[in-house]
Amino acid sequence: MTLLDLFSSTRSVPAARLDTAIWPRDSHYDESGRIVVGGVALADIAERYGTATTVLDEHEVRGRCRAYRKAFPETEIVYAGQALLVRTVVNWVTDEGLSVAVHSSDELDVALTAGIDPKRIIMHGNRESFDALVTAVDCRVGRIVAGSLAEINLLAAVATHPQRVLLRLSADIDVDGQPTDIARRPDFPVGAAAAAAVGQVLSKPMLDLIGFHCQVVSKIYNPDYYGEAIRRMVAEMAQVRHDHGRILTDLDLGGGHAVAYRSGDAEMNLTELAAILEDALDAACARQRFPRPNIALEPGRGIVARAGVTLLRVCSVKHHDGGHTCVIVDSGARAGTRPAALAATVLANRRAAGPHRTATVAGRAGNEILATDIRLPADLRPGDLLAVPCSGAYQHGHALSDTARLPVIAVDSGRCVELVRREPDMLDRDAG
Ligand SMILES: Cc1ncc(COP(=O)(O)O)c(C=O)c1O
Repeated sequence: MTLLDLFSSTRSVPAARLDTAIWPRDSHYDESGRIVVGGVALADIAERYGTATTVLDEHEVRGRCRAYRKAFPETEIVYAGQALLVRTVVNWVTDEGLSVAVHSSDELDVALTAGIDPKRIIMHGNRESFDALVTAVDCRVGRIVAGSLAEINLLAAVATHPQRVLLRLSADIDVDGQPTDIARRPDFPVGAAAAAAVGQVLSKPMLDLIGFHCQVVSKIYNPDYYGEAIRRMVAEMAQVRHDHGRILTDLDLGGGHAVAYRSGDAEMNLTELAAILEDALDAACARQRFPRPNIALEPGRGIVARAGVTLLRVCSVKHHDGGHTCVIVDSGARAGTRPAALAATVLANRRAAGPHRTATVAGRAGNEILATDIRLPADLRPGDLLAVPCSGAYQHGHALSDTARLPVIAVDSGRCVELVRREPDMLDRDAG
């Protein structure tokens, strides 16, 4: 340690601030340099519940729901449950007036047992099993989104009452060259394929086609892409009226709104998005002389990402020749910690006084590299606690995930409540 390091670690350091673009609004450093979220020190949560753990700030989740409702007063806001589906979270978001979209039978079970009115559930048929769609129809979920002919035929075969259906179309919009997820891409691009699918649904007496669903891609911060999606979808709706004399009333524009993972990252500005949607709807409906459809948005990340903070314990710190540092933590991509958010990782259990170094963060399981070029205190040591902000979405792992899932602890007004228990460890699972 140099004299400068010694000096900088002993002088009093002004309290650092946590950037509210990536941390829950109710987070700060306490006088001993520990990070406090929702009135609870993260170090205390780690002590009580172990690590790795996701902490979820209820106030922030509710605040995001309100921000969406305020920016889009005429629009249905549907929480995309795949981002983080936990019964308590379902209760928070429905309390705030949101509906819920689910993507699997597990997620459907969670939503239903949370007590949500099935009419407020949108079930996505993509990658779904026969059983899940049967259950969704039996439970009379409000809408089912069909993205393939197989799903349409299946729904038609099992529906014994009129089932409202949205057809999932691909708007074929190139968002900065971002690839669409091939596994989830619907079978119906706008045009001939969409027209054939519409004909199929309309030929099934129990299927009530009410409109289209379209997920552009994810992590979009330029709202113009949604304006383009509206133009293409309204044109398609006008085509249905032309071909079948049927007026579709609903247009679900999916989610995909970018959030900031690091200070300075671009994120979707909801006010700008609202203005673009309004203008695009006015223009598209006027051009097609089409009645204004009911619009729904399905944000997932935009609701829960910033409310979540993942806690990781430092297991070891290795200083390699050439000055490179590798920090091993008690989690990993396969254990539920996704690399995207790790860039903004900070020390959470004490004040970082000395200089910082660039480090690689690796998971304990298999020493997989989780992130490179992370700035961490040079005096980081085993036992220290790291906090990863903006990690509330797609961390816990959705129901179909094959990764182990982190426990989820809710915090609010100085209280913490366990929402999801830790998964059984090796010995618990070993049948002996
Ligand atoms: C159909 C659908 N709706 C909503 C979402 C939510 O996206 P995000 O969490 O990026 O808002 C997704 C995510 O891929 C999706 O596929």
